[in-house]
Amino acid sequence: MNTLSLLVAFLGLVGANADTVLESRQTAAQTAYVDLRVTRGKPEHLASGWIYGIPDNFPNQIPNHWYTDIGFRWGKGGGAQLGAVGQRGWVVGLDDYKGRFASTLANYKTCRAVGADFHLYAHDLWGTDHAGGKGGKWPGDSNDFSDYDKFVKQLMTDVAANMDLAHVTWDIWNEPDIQPYFWVRSAQQWVNMYIRTHKMIRANRALDAMKTSGPAIGFAPGPNNAYWTTWLPQAVSNNTIPDYYTLHLEGGLGDITYDPDYTNTSLGQLLKKYGAPQRQVFVNEYAAAAEMVPSGYAWWISRLERHDTFGMLGNWLGGTRLHDLFGGLLTKKSNPANYAATDYAPAAGYPVYRYYGTNMTGLRVNTTGSADRWLDVYGTIGSDKMRILAGVKVHTGTYAVAVQGLSAAGYASGSTVDVTAYSFDGTSTTAVAPVDPTNRGRTSYKVANNAITVVIHQTASHTGWAYEFDVKKP
Ligand SMILES: *[C@@H]1O[C@H](CO)[C@@H](O)[C@H](O)[C@H]1NC(C)=O
Ligand SMILES: *[C@@H]1O[C@H](CO)[C@@H](O)[C@H](O)[C@H]1NC(C)=O
Ligand SMILES: *[C@@H]1O[C@H](CO)[C@@H](O)[C@H](O)[C@H]1NC(C)=O
Ligand SMILES: *[C@@H]1O[C@H](CO)[C@@H](O)[C@H](O)[C@H]1NC(C)=O
Repeated sequence: MNTLSLLVAFLGLVGANADTVLESRQTAAQTAYVDLRVTRGKPEHLASGWIYGIPDNFPNQIPNHWYTDIGFRWGKGGGAQLGAVGQRGWVVGLDDYKGRFASTLANYKTCRAVGADFHLYAHDLWGTDHAGGKGGKWPGDSNDFSDYDKFVKQLMTDVAANMDLAHVTWDIWNEPDIQPYFWVRSAQQWVNMYIRTHKMIRANRALDAMKTSGPAIGFAPGPNNAYWTTWLPQAVSNNTIPDYYTLHLEGGLGDITYDPDYTNTSLGQLLKKYGAPQRQVFVNEYAAAAEMVPSGYAWWISRLERHDTFGMLGNWLGGTRLHDLFGGLLTKKSNPANYAATDYAPAAGYPVYRYYGTNMTGLRVNTTGSADRWLDVYGTIGSDKMRILAGVKVHTGTYAVAVQGLSAAGYASGSTVDVTAYSFDGTSTTAVAPVDPTNRGRTSYKVANNAITVVIHQTASHTGWAYEFDVKKP
């Protein structure tokens, strides 16, 4: 018998002793908490977005319902990895910049057509993938920014002429610390470029409605991250703090520094140390490739929602699949690598985001992830049902969700709550998954101390879960 079954047996025995029960639950490292008494505003599906993943034409070949059914909030593009003549970016020439801008604009139009905001990758329009590495052309080489300034002016003109700026964010540069792919010069040269760009954008009154974001550093924020500690104090002293602080959290399964619960504190401490203002945090790349299964997606959604953090999924696909397939939420029945094929189908993550974006209505409730960090939960209380999304992030074991404050859903002490469990069983970003989760049946729980404890037997590490029960009319 494992520790948790022992605990559950113990709870059954001493159910009448409120203090003991509460204390025992709070110390269970594999228990997450959902509290129906504390609501946190309407769901805005803050984690429903991804980078790239949208075909380069408008109207695009993916029917709108695939976007709207998951409450798609944010998209991002810039023409990365396009390699044809005329599509390689500013470093090759104006015509090649125009090809990348055409891709960017098509993605922007798709996002707006389905109600999402758009973020643009300036480094892609520059063309870091064709910049020629160390021997090539980078902004501010030999302290000469004249060519880069021309690029920024061209992009500012094109953005202002073609986009609804209230729904656009200019991400000033992507992953300056992921060398040699996105930057090959010093951190200080990047900071100089960042400050210069921010000043040019903010001096341009035509762009007042547009947001900026940065620093989009690849490694997690912390006191020992030299990119953060070089950038932040200078952004403060030059009055160039962006509208969104952007982070990338793709460190992998066991690394606790790539966890919004951790970075909420570590970034908070950096901001305090350097006297930087609070801004909305935007994780504009989340989830490592191995986390792109239902248990991982549900965990990330829960973590981001807890801190009111906006999020876009990272994208681990390449070639044409980078410009298709929603970062791996979609696949194709025949061949996902065939760009022209339109037989789109849900991959493992799509049903999770559809449930999150469509079914989880009402008000968000307060949650706490398990102390061992593997399980997290997101919950909404509607007029019809209480719904909980749960993810044991690519891990197995016996976990539990303690649902507290059941009186808020009309359940008295001693009454019975019938909980229906659903599993999200998709296994990969390639295989076709059923769009609806599997109904795993109903279990009845007796309310004690205004709470019930739902046990998760996580035998397959990829499985994600949803739990539903009726909200009783007052
Ligand atoms: C930032 O401010 C410092 C101190 O005022 C100044 O020396 C530096 O040149 C500024 N950096 C840029 C890129 O403008
Ligand atoms: C930390 O989370 C709180 C909400 O829980 C949020 O208001 C705050 O902006 C977050 N701070 C950082 C630096 O992530
Ligand atoms: C989620 O909502 C859709 C659309 O209303 C519905 O068809 C589906 O049955 C719901 N899923 C669950 C698990 O309730
Ligand atoms: C909400 O949950 C957090 C932990 O995730 C906890 O620190 C906080 O006290 C809770 N808020 C209320 C009002 O219970």
